[in-house]
Amino acid sequence: MTQRSLVLLKPDAVRRGLVGEIVGRIERKADWRITALELRTLDRETLEQHYAEHVGKVFYEPLVTFMSSGPVVALVVEGERVIEGIRVLAGPTDPITAAPGSIRGDLGTITRENLIHASDSEESANRELKIFFPNLA
Ligand code: CMP
Repeated sequence: MTQRSLVLLKPDAVRRGLVGEIVGRIERKADWRITALELRTLDRETLEQHYAEHVGKVFYEPLVTFMSSGPVVALVVEGERVIEGIRVLAGPTDPITAAPGSIRGDLGTITRENLIHASDSEESANRELKIFFPNLA
């Protein structure tokens, strides 16, 4: 089942010089393709759309401050079961409990600054892809 996922390398990943490391892990998966990749700084409005389900939660405001604190790398990745696959590569939200071998497990310690966002379902992927890459065919 070929899918598309929206991936964001968060500002901590860019600041720490981990873009190549993380993109490399995605690129090495057989037959997955990166079909868009862009460095950009996110504004509040974009983040409010992207994190609509988290508006009002205690971690929302600090999350927006963090996510707009520097550029992110936005990617579209296509391939076999890529939505589930990137979530597995990333590991769970809290990097301390993420297994070694996963991106968060190997590289992270802080729940907010957990390096990577990846769409969690086909429905989220479609919604998020429209926000970040509205001109995608
Ligand atoms: P992600 O799962 O990609 O999307 C929601 C983000 O909110 C999450 O990554 C973290 O960056 C942040 N987040 C979620 N829960 C918490 C929390 N309890 N404390 C701080 N940040 C959080």
